[in-house]
Amino acid sequence: MPCEDWGDSRVSEDGHIFTPEMIFTIFLLVQTALLYFILTHRSRSKREPPLDKGLIPWLGHALEFGKDASKFLNRMKLKHGNIFTVRAAGRYVTVLLDPHSYDAVINDTDCLDFTRYAQVLMDRIFNLRLPDHHMDKAKDMMKKQFMGMNVASLNNTVSRHLQALVKAEIPQNQKDWKEHGLFDFSYSLLFKAGYLTLFGGEQNNNSSDPSFVYEEYKKFDGLLTKMARGTLNREEKRTTQRVQKRLLELLAPAGLAEDSGSSPWLHSYRRLLQEEGADEDTQGKAILMQVWATQGNVGPAAFWLLGYLLTNPAALSAVKKEFSQISQMEPSETPLSDRLMNTPVFGSALEEALRLSAAPFITREVLQEKTLHMADGQEYLLRKGDRMCLFPFISPQMDPEIYHEPQKYKYDRFLNEDGSVKKDFYKAGRRLKYYTMPWGAGTNGCVGKQFAINTIRQFVYMVLMNYDLELCDPNAQMPEVNASRYGFGMLQPESDLLVRYKSRNAH
Ligand code: HEM
Repeated sequence: MPCEDWGDSRVSEDGHIFTPEMIFTIFLLVQTALLYFILTHRSRSKREPPLDKGLIPWLGHALEFGKDASKFLNRMKLKHGNIFTVRAAGRYVTVLLDPHSYDAVINDTDCLDFTRYAQVLMDRIFNLRLPDHHMDKAKDMMKKQFMGMNVASLNNTVSRHLQALVKAEIPQNQKDWKEHGLFDFSYSLLFKAGYLTLFGGEQNNNSSDPSFVYEEYKKFDGLLTKMARGTLNREEKRTTQRVQKRLLELLAPAGLAEDSGSSPWLHSYRRLLQEEGADEDTQGKAILMQVWATQGNVGPAAFWLLGYLLTNPAALSAVKKEFSQISQMEPSETPLSDRLMNTPVFGSALEEALRLSAAPFITREVLQEKTLHMADGQEYLLRKGDRMCLFPFISPQMDPEIYHEPQKYKYDRFLNEDGSVKKDFYKAGRRLKYYTMPWGAGTNGCVGKQFAINTIRQFVYMVLMNYDLELCDPNAQMPEVNASRYGFGMLQPESDLLVRYKSRNAH
């Protein structure tokens, strides 16, 4: 018989005793479970994209997504088609993989917002909060400096730094081969040249030497994807704090004194931060974020290009031939960046390397309910509060319907038979507007594109024309990709590719 006494304790039919604390705890647990169910339960309405919540409550597909986004999204594409919604760490992300329909997302800046997610990442990676209007102002400033006439002066400065750095790495009298990992070789030289051009400092072995910044930045970069996903363990958190502190010390003078060697852009950017009332700590973090935006992709891109050239002899000799013709035709007094204006073979070789190795997500926050009109006539409802994500790496870039044998590097894919630049690529019988998207697209596309291409071209020209560079193992293949970096711009290799070099003039 159940005890009717609600005083101190109750005895159930099978003899268990419930204290008031226990009853309260059970009540709380039931309430929490109910609340959790209400908050996280979601069913698909007919007008919405297919919904895949995964088996694990709340977490959904987060682990698989983070481990190898390309593999996971390819699996979802096979299961659901070109559009679907997945749950990852409590968030619902609608993924769109039809390049014919990308404009419906990229062009809608009213319902789909770029800034909010960018601010989430800014906070997680750089521990940085800046006012809403900051991004727009900073971007306008960058456009002025990197997209107009000013880019010519930046090209000359970066060229000067590159020449000095490459010479220091491979002295003219170096007779013996020097071995180095190609990734570290490309990343370190381009990082330092780009850093000296934009942020200043000198190669002088003291704290303004970019080598120190590079060494610290590499540690930061190695933990970047975990910071963005919020999955650092305690030890890694301590490391990032330490490295960030050191980087902020090294960056402290950048863009402050007129004689710091920083670019006019950085001086204006510092002033903008000061006008907005950002304290010194915030200014430093904002500048670190700019180091990431401007230096994080160029070195890895040059690595993939040089790696594909070295492992594809026909591609290497085609690019060298084009460069030799230029060096014979143009007087050597003309600045290198001006001499290298018309290089369709190099352009195609680079575009092909980027097709295989640039894998950014294009992410938007759904601000208000929206009907997405797909190119095939289908319509889907997007829910307010969800995230929208395009992943051009899967399509167009690796889409077998667009590119024959998409896994293979073919340096002349972006050339017509007459040697002109090829821009006609098709899917489902229709010409594509977006056939590769390494630079993002729309108002949030990369503002440094032209500067980046010029820098990589000058670097590859210098290395191939003045030095002997070859694989240590002539049969070496390109290393595997670090799969955890899908979604974060340029991919990085899982291991390095060993090369050797010496000066061509050395006897
Ligand atoms: C190979 C080298 C590079 C690649 C592949 C690359 C790629 C990208 C991508 C994919 C985006 C994001 C677009 C989006 O979210 O929709 C981006 C943004 C940006 N890139 Fe680059 N980038 C490179 C080099 C550079 C360089 C050299 C600079 C400047 C000197 C630069 C400055 C920026 C800036 C400031 C943004 C943010 C634009 C915004 O606020 O909307 N990038 N880049």
